[in-house]
Amino acid sequence: MTIALGADDAAYDLKETIKKYLEERGIEVVDYGVYDTKPSLYPDIAVKVAEAIAGGKHERGILMCGTGLGMAITANKVPGIRAATCHDTYSAERARKSNDAQILTMGARVIGPELAKSVVDAWLKSEFQGGGSTAKVARIAEYEKKYLKKER
Ligand code: RB5
Repeated sequence: MTIALGADDAAYDLKETIKKYLEERGIEVVDYGVYDTKPSLYPDIAVKVAEAIAGGKHERGILMCGTGLGMAITANKVPGIRAATCHDTYSAERARKSNDAQILTMGARVIGPELAKSVVDAWLKSEFQGGGSTAKVARIAEYEKKYLKKER
């Protein structure tokens, strides 16, 4: 499994911390930037990562910005993507088990690096549980289809 990572300038340091943490555990990561703390636009990074995941390049992604919110809002615009902002381990587990979220988002101004690592662990070790959640996640996709603009 490869994990796509992305962050804006506000979360550059957290991205580097998470990148190192995953690599030390033998998990392959692909870093979609940013690569420094120069001012950046988080939607550009969110879309790059979300498109790569929707296109099947990576199984999962982690996006980080100041709050995690802008990254999630943007990533969720890409059809097929379910991005969830999690700052606690229970939410991270449920984001996988109930919501089948392929993207985890976190805010570097909200969460410290050690808790962020635990959130990542909880999210990575959890898988979609299916069962009663299958119809619910399928319904999200139906609504998504309803609102997709037809290509002209
Ligand atoms: C800073 O640009 C801040 O707005 C951003 O990092 C993020 O928190 C947005 O949701």
